[in-house]
Amino acid sequence: MDILVVIGTRPEAIKMAPLIRRLRGESSVRVNLCATGQHREMFATALEPFEIETDFNLDLMREAQPLADLTAAVLRGLQGILDEIRPDIVLVQGDTSSTFAASLAAFYAGVRVGHVEAGLRTGDPLAPWPEELNRRLTAQVAHWHFAPTETARSNLLAESIAPNRIFVTGNTVIDALEWILSSMGDQLRENIRNRFPFLADDKKLLLATVHRRENQRGGAARVCAALRTLARREDINVLLPVHPNPAIKPVVEEILGSTPRVHLVEPLDYFEFVATMNEAHLIVTDSGGVQEEAPYLGVPVLVTREKTERPEAVAVGAARLVGTDTAEILRQSYMLLDDRDAHEAMASTSSPFGDGLASARIAKVLLNTPR
Ligand code: UD1
Ligand code: UDP
Repeated sequence: MDILVVIGTRPEAIKMAPLIRRLRGESSVRVNLCATGQHREMFATALEPFEIETDFNLDLMREAQPLADLTAAVLRGLQGILDEIRPDIVLVQGDTSSTFAASLAAFYAGVRVGHVEAGLRTGDPLAPWPEELNRRLTAQVAHWHFAPTETARSNLLAESIAPNRIFVTGNTVIDALEWILSSMGDQLRENIRNRFPFLADDKKLLLATVHRRENQRGGAARVCAALRTLARREDINVLLPVHPNPAIKPVVEEILGSTPRVHLVEPLDYFEFVATMNEAHLIVTDSGGVQEEAPYLGVPVLVTREKTERPEAVAVGAARLVGTDTAEILRQSYMLLDDRDAHEAMASTSSPFGDGLASARIAKVLLNTPR
């Protein structure tokens, strides 16, 4: 069986890595890995810890590239690769423009598509934008829908996806986290403290990320204003790995660049970021993946968005949707910094996104498929 895995960005690399490793361990499967190159450095540092090499790289990243150009370039670039290797299956993950364009390219080439992390929905095509539409469109193309949770399965059923095409597997991000934690063990903490000596201070760590497109019209600035105010407290450090997007980086640097106790750093590799999440008292983020990882690690997470496609984390009490209003972010953060019980209640929930066996389940479905 020939499988072509297509991934473009940091979260796709992290979440597909365990499945690629799994499939490459099967003697009856040949796996080719194609990076679209939507992300460059962030993709490389995400994949590296899993010791996986790409077979093709379309190398498509251009500074501030419009979505239409990227989407068209993925379609065109994949056509040649699909013609060359004629896979039985194309696997895509998540909701990026690479995900959607790759599934459409496979459809045009007559190749069946497996969609990993299928069925996440906010119900609003504009939030997150354009990801909600990317996932809906990918669902229209996909043959196999690997839903991480029962909620995701219900969303797909509500869109008339055939029940026998939907498989609830858990999210492969938990497989990835477990791989990182077990392959680095105790070394993880030591390495991150060597890299960031301030982590050894007797202060609480607030870890933050910001990158969503719908937060680029003022939302990111309001989040940064909240972080600047929080950093006035002498009992916390703020660590923010800055997304290189030219619509984000200058905003973050202008507001937080010279703020005491705020540490702006380059994007961290996955080993470093997992180690940092483990050290955090609180995470403030608009990331999708971090909303899944934080509950597993027992770190409360404030989600700086109006809507989430990961309602499971909110439902178990591990995450709160706080939007991007500066005062509200401050109110919720102070509570989690000062009220031990409130913090404990969020930190001690269960993890709703999987048990570390998602890749094994997905591989089993694919291997049992008649050609
Ligand atoms: C993309 C995805 C988003 C996902 C995010 C993960 C789309 C439309 N967006 O958003 O769903 O949550 O990745 O991080 O698919 N850049 C670099 N180096 C890199 C990566 C990006 O310099 O390694 C810069 C480039 O100027 C690039 C810009 O960031 O043009 C934006 O990258 P892009 O992939 O379009 O959007 P993201 O915000 O990263
Ligand atoms: N991440 C990372 N380094 C960082 C920030 C995030 O490795 O500096 C990881 C994080 O653990 C998660 C993934 O990147 O697995 C999330 O990526 P991102 O927030 O860019 O995208 P999203 O999940 O929102 O699509």
